[in-house]
Amino acid sequence: MPKVIAITGASAGIGRATALTLARRGASLALLARRRDRLDEVSADIARLGGQALTLVGDVTNERDLYDLVDRASERFGRLDVMVANAGFAIYGDIEKIRPADMQRLLDVNYMGTYHAARAALPVFRRQAAGHLIIISSIVGKRGVPFMGAYAATKFAQDGLAQSLRAQLDGTGVDITVVFPISTNTEFFSVMTRESGHATRADGPRQSAETVAEAIAQAIDRPVPEVFPYRRSRGLALLNVLAPGFCDRLVKRWGRKPI
Ligand SMILES: NC(=O)c1ccc[n+]([C@@H]2O[C@H](COP(=O)([O-])OP(=O)(O)OC[C@H]3O[C@@H](n4cnc5c(N)ncnc54)[C@H](OP(=O)(O)O)[C@@H]3O)[C@@H](O)[C@H]2O)c1
Repeated sequence: MPKVIAITGASAGIGRATALTLARRGASLALLARRRDRLDEVSADIARLGGQALTLVGDVTNERDLYDLVDRASERFGRLDVMVANAGFAIYGDIEKIRPADMQRLLDVNYMGTYHAARAALPVFRRQAAGHLIIISSIVGKRGVPFMGAYAATKFAQDGLAQSLRAQLDGTGVDITVVFPISTNTEFFSVMTRESGHATRADGPRQSAETVAEAIAQAIDRPVPEVFPYRRSRGLALLNVLAPGFCDRLVKRWGRKPI
């Protein structure tokens, strides 16, 4: 049976690529983001692929919008199989320069947005005794890098929530997966430039949004606790447990720098 999948932050980047990848696999989609025009474009692309999507203009910081997304998906398609908590953004910089109000916005979108998505979807998953929450964190949610501390904290927070839920829901039919992408070619960096007030560059590896989307699609087919779409990055997460001081020097060398 085709899956019913809700995605937050589906108007661009990883969320959009995931929606298109899943539509090609026959999924029915419920897509949320703030920009109506961009959601309409994704919806038209999905229709061209022969798929179906409902779209909802909403903000993940608003708890009600996540309940609306789940309700509308359930009403239109009869159930909800997967919630992908993907919406997020970053601010680069020294935490002494990032104002508390901006740190709060990061927490509200990246962490509270994930929390609201989980709270809206989990009652449906429990009722069905089946469901899959997929949280898009970041490799910096496993290992912080210089000047990304404010953002990294929100990405670690997502993983903390997921680990607790995973253990708690073990054996209930509800799966929890966290995805840890490395630098991915999306609008993320133009948003970060705007939010931070200056551009940055990094010399490390990059991947495409389609690579991340494919890894998410595979996790939906076969749920696993953690997904590293750039496989070698799992090594950094492991190395950091064994040798955090060495990793400090490693990420300092390869980390993002202001231009
Ligand atoms: N790109 C990377 O290098 C990278 C690496 C690791 C992890 N990630 C994570 O991947 C996720 C997706 O990022 P991306 O790279 O695809 O960035 P992106 O291209 O900027 O897309 C972000 C998406 O989130 C939506 N969004 C932002 N704030 C929102 C809000 N308050 N409410 C609802 N939707 C909101 C945006 O749509 P609207 O503006 O239309 O609302 C957009 O659809 C994020 O959680 C990010 O932390 C990205």
